[in-house]
Parts: sequence; C-alpha cells; structure tokens
Amino acid sequence: MRKLMVAGNWKMHGSQSLSDELTAATSSLGEVADQVDVVICPPFPYLGTVVSGCAGSSVSTGAQNLSNQVADGAYTGEVSGRMLREAGCAHVIVGHSERRSYYGETSQLVAEKAAAALEVGLTPLVCIGETLEERESGNMEAVLSEQLDAVINHLGIQAMANTVIAYEPVWAIGTGVTASPEQAQEVHAFLRQRMAGNDATIAAEIRILYGGSVKGNNAKELFACPDVDGGLIGGASLDAEQFSTICKAAAKS
Ligand code: PGA
Repeated sequence: MRKLMVAGNWKMHGSQSLSDELTAATSSLGEVADQVDVVICPPFPYLGTVVSGCAGSSVSTGAQNLSNQVADGAYTGEVSGRMLREAGCAHVIVGHSERRSYYGETSQLVAEKAAAALEVGLTPLVCIGETLEERESGNMEAVLSEQLDAVINHLGIQAMANTVIAYEPVWAIGTGVTASPEQAQEVHAFLRQRMAGNDATIAAEIRILYGGSVKGNNAKELFACPDVDGGLIGGASLDAEQFSTICKAAAKS
C-alpha cells in the first residue's frame, strides 16, 4: 500500500504572517497528518519558521528549488541541498513547469537537481507535465516519457525508489481546469507502466501525485483513482481550510 502524500506549493506567495497562520493550521491536523504524508513547501525565507512551527507534528517541510551543484562554491543566488537539510527540509520540488518554462530548466538540469537532492537525503518531488498543445497534437506520451526518462537515466531506476513523481498537466496549473479523474488515472497508469519496464517493484511502490487545480471539492475523486497517490497543491494550499479539507480527503482514500 502506498501512503498518500499531500504537498502544498506556496510558490512566490505569502508573508511571514500568512506563513505562520498556515503552518499553525497545518501542524494541528493531528491524526490526519499521521495517515498522510503532509508537506509544506514555502519560499526560502520562511523555511526556518515553518520547520519550527511543524516540530512535534508529523508535517514536514520542503523547498521549491535547489541548486544542481552539490559542493559549496561561487554560485550567487543558489541554495544547495545541504543547506536545505540543515534548515530542516526533508523534501524539495524539482522540475516544476514554471521553472521549466520561465527559467529554462531542461530535463537534464531537472535530473541533476533530483540527483543533488538525493545526494544529501532530500526526497525530490519531480514534476512532469504536458502543455495543452502537446496533448492535443498527440504528443503527450512522448513529452512525458522524455521528462521521466531523463530522470530515470540520470539517477538509475533503483534511486527512483527515493523519489516522488508529480504529474502536473500544464493546462491544469492555476487555471481552475482540473484533469478529470479518468484523465489523471490514464496518465498515472501510463507513467507507472513505463517505470515497470525498468523495475516492476519500484514502479508499484513509487508515489505519483497529481497536481493542477486540486481543490477541497475535487480532491476526493482524484485521490480515489488507483494510481493517484495524493496531490501537489498550489493555490488551495494558501487557504488553511481548503488545504486541510484536501489533507482529510487523502486520509480517507
Ligand atoms: P494549482 O498549482 O493547484 O494552483 O493549480 C499546482 C502546482 O503548480 O503545483
């Protein structure tokens, strides 16, 4: 049985007071956070207070990005995995479509970042997803395969056991248009099958989260899909009540 995960990706939103408010609400989820792996991914400056606010609860903290460089060095503006570990992070998002499209991150760079995370014991949440144009032109599977294979080929299939995949169709991110449970299930099953071509056990055990306009009112039906192992939540993670409803939906699945 795969334990479901719900990760909140705050993106570049929030303030110290909102961060404190959301952390207090999430860290008091109690039993729910024992049944589901709940992760909060705030912007870098709030990591320290999120980590301390979650101490004593089962909620863990993740970053939204890290450097592909493992060793310290002259890389202005970069943050290493080691620093994130030292700050108390357990997870880190890599390859989010906003980083791929706005900051030119290639699948190779994403794979290097996933490796840098694993090197220091962080769990990378590796995001992959197709645009609407890629889906409608019949290239969805090719695009997803290229993004997934880059990571598998760089890390090796055995290391995939220590990663989490997040399927985030670009057309569903922040648009209010959610993939239907059938669409999500179809892609998740495809990704799992592709990994099974390398190693059936790892494919059966790896968690594949869905992301893209997950809200309190659609989480339950998405999490009920057999190959959907939780969600990566953007907008709704900035609303304590919505995020808690989503975590509770995962606990019941
Ligand atoms: P959304 O974002 O829930 O606001 O669509 C999801 C994500 O980008 O991770």
